[in-house]
Amino acid sequence: MEKKIKIGLIGLGTVGTGVVKVLKNFDNIEIKGVAVHNINKPREVEVSNLTDDPYKLVNDPEIDIIVEVIGGCNPALDIIETAIKNGKHVVTANKELLARHGAYIFDLANKYNKVILYEAAVAGGIPIITPIKTTMRVNEFESVAGILNGTTNYILTKMEEEGLSYKDCLKKAQDLGYAETNPTSDVEGYDAMYKIATLANIAFNKRIDINKIFKEGITKITKEDIDFANELGYKIKLIGLARKTENGKIDVRVHPMLVEKDNPMAKIGNALNAVLVKGHPIGEVVFSGPGAGEFPTASSVAGDILIIASELNKYDEILPMARCNHTEFANQVDILDTENSYYISITAKNIHGTIGYIGTICGKNHINILSILQKGLSSDHKSARIIVITEKCFEKDIQNAVKELENIGENDEKFISINNIIRVME
Ligand code: HSE
Repeated sequence: MEKKIKIGLIGLGTVGTGVVKVLKNFDNIEIKGVAVHNINKPREVEVSNLTDDPYKLVNDPEIDIIVEVIGGCNPALDIIETAIKNGKHVVTANKELLARHGAYIFDLANKYNKVILYEAAVAGGIPIITPIKTTMRVNEFESVAGILNGTTNYILTKMEEEGLSYKDCLKKAQDLGYAETNPTSDVEGYDAMYKIATLANIAFNKRIDINKIFKEGITKITKEDIDFANELGYKIKLIGLARKTENGKIDVRVHPMLVEKDNPMAKIGNALNAVLVKGHPIGEVVFSGPGAGEFPTASSVAGDILIIASELNKYDEILPMARCNHTEFANQVDILDTENSYYISITAKNIHGTIGYIGTICGKNHINILSILQKGLSSDHKSARIIVITEKCFEKDIQNAVKELENIGENDEKFISINNIIRVME
């Protein structure tokens, strides 16, 4: 009989519980122990060998694979580091750890001839890491763009469908358990940033410095922005984008984008995730599905466990394609040097020549206006809402134009205020 592969599971929250349930169907895998924070907490699944000391598992010579599903960097980094040094392979769902400490743990894994698999760390149940690393390996990737955060996609979808404010939709997301009580990681774009950093890393074979990723969340998006975008033929989505520029640099960022309604990404609603990969020779391919949740995420975690298990005890060096074979950091593009089209929402004083100011200042800053729309006047006739869509231009020119526009005025009164600027997806 084939030897059972023994795993140590670190974490028995939503994902860990799903992993225990899913692995019940696989006789060749034994969960030798499960480490949790509180061993007295009632659990949905029955597990033997519950411990509150993860090091019991990472130091157990019988355990082949450590599966880390606790998230965060502390103590996960030390647990994974110890596991690798003790000769164990690692499966993790930890996007933050990979984004912040990937360079260190992948080098360590290579040094100890171990693999780290992390399909669940990006877009939960959607298989995207393994396809990019293996099946699509022949491709020269041009860009990877994703709706990588379900909570924010749910909030934006509800704002559009139900005409509710950001605040009301955040509350709904919290009531449904999508958003945490402190929603910062999701709504400010950190979660999506960790995920796009990992996607950029594997698509372009370069390490990514997350401190150089431009990041903006969805907290400034208003119902009006969603309505105006809708009228102009777009939806607003939080997009993680990674693309190779003509001079070989890597442009990685996370921010809301206007997405044309016939773009496949515009059709991804509620808490779903999607990743649009462009490359040669494959062309364009879209992966979509559940980005979180007990079973979808457990599907990815358990899949990684089975991949390792299938090769363990057979080869000296398992899964060479799944390893990190590059060490060089990417030359990342500063957001000011990127070129985009822009949606600009402006509130202007109802005086002669306002549109003239906007046109003149845009022109002076090398910005071509694609369309301009005045949405009537406020009820007191004192101000107007104007929406400008620009052609592709440099971010630094937009920033300069905005500063100039906001400075126009007389005495202490400013004529123009910028409500929001949203980049448009190509
Ligand atoms: N909080 C994430 C989301 C799921 O809302 O998509 C875990 O990465």
